[in-house]
Amino acid sequence: MSAVPGQRRPDQRDEPSTLVESDATRSVSAKAPIYVTQPHLPPFEEFVPLLRRIWDSKQLTNGGPFHQEFESALAAYLGVNHIALFANATLALVTALQAMRISGEVITTPYSFVATSHSLLWNGIRPVFVDIDPETLNIDPLKIEAAITPHTTAIMPVHCYGRPCDVEQIQRIADTYNLKVIYDAAHAFGVETVAGHSVLRHGDLSVLSFHATKVFNTFEGGAIICPDAKTKLRIDQLKNFGIVDEVTVVAPGINGKMSEFNAALGLLQLQHIDTALQQRSEVDQRYRQHFREIAGIACLPAAADLRHNYSYFPVVVNKDFPLTRDQLYSRLRDEGIYARRYFYPLISAFPMYRGLASAAPANLPVATSAAQRILCLPIYAGLPVADQMRVIDVIRSCR
Ligand SMILES: Cc1ncc(COP(=O)(O)O)c(C=O)c1O
Repeated sequence: MSAVPGQRRPDQRDEPSTLVESDATRSVSAKAPIYVTQPHLPPFEEFVPLLRRIWDSKQLTNGGPFHQEFESALAAYLGVNHIALFANATLALVTALQAMRISGEVITTPYSFVATSHSLLWNGIRPVFVDIDPETLNIDPLKIEAAITPHTTAIMPVHCYGRPCDVEQIQRIADTYNLKVIYDAAHAFGVETVAGHSVLRHGDLSVLSFHATKVFNTFEGGAIICPDAKTKLRIDQLKNFGIVDEVTVVAPGINGKMSEFNAALGLLQLQHIDTALQQRSEVDQRYRQHFREIAGIACLPAAADLRHNYSYFPVVVNKDFPLTRDQLYSRLRDEGIYARRYFYPLISAFPMYRGLASAAPANLPVATSAAQRILCLPIYAGLPVADQMRVIDVIRSCR
């Protein structure tokens, strides 16, 4: 979901939004475009002194001081032990597979952004698609075992929309068949149980994205959550060409390093993320309140027992709604509202995957149906209440 158009308007600030309309949250113009997301940025003035430090130090990359500081601060914020920062999540996924020495076949979900499966192809691994669960829209653990072959080495599930997979059941299967589990956790920044246990602590590795469209962004960026220092060291070498020291290269690594610019921004973003998450939760709550009265539009169940990150607001356009999902998508566009059909088409429908036996729509009925019926509505910190009401009013007017 990288290419989402839209700029942050100059009037937007980081004030907490409220459930009632105020001057701070009133739309600029009734017809101004509303995008599915808008990047969250700290006040510019707060970034300037950090840029000055980079200019003065002349250390731009290769694990400089901001990289070190951000890595530690992020691990503390997320409640995990070891993190390796990356230039983006796609390189992190490719490297995670290398770090675990994965080959052969990997079981994964078709209901995701293409980077999930692309990371497998970049490693010469064959993706094996397994259908999703109709409630969570994550890979269905009950269907994983039937897809395991002698070539299977790992499972790559996705915490779709930041809603956790059935991590326990997946781990049980992995333990039984001696498989690794690498989570594509691109959507799952900050998601925890109410007891404060991060969802990122499950599996062998988890990969986060800090792309501009994500809940937490460093313009571009990503990270691998590692269980121990030894694994982190291997990943740190792999993201730096496999270099150990001036004269030693131990693996055909890649250049996946995060720069000081992105790391400094990440450090600053951490100071504002809780406010942003609170604002997102208010947008989520407001949609839920209104959609209760609009027949045919179903919200996914509210995330109980979770500290959710409200990264997306998917709705299911049911048969009793007067328009199909695609008709509603077009109707919103006519009104300048750019909702997105995440995830349509399914990854398995793209040319480089559709020849695989597991990509057949008959093997993926739940994912195929979800791809036809789900629409992600605008949600971001600082979405003006009036803009959100425009979205709701257009949907209501279709009835
Ligand atoms: C599920 C998922 N995986 C991977 C990626 C790739 O992340 P990045 O853009 O940081 O490479 C994204 C989003 O862009 C995503 O949504």
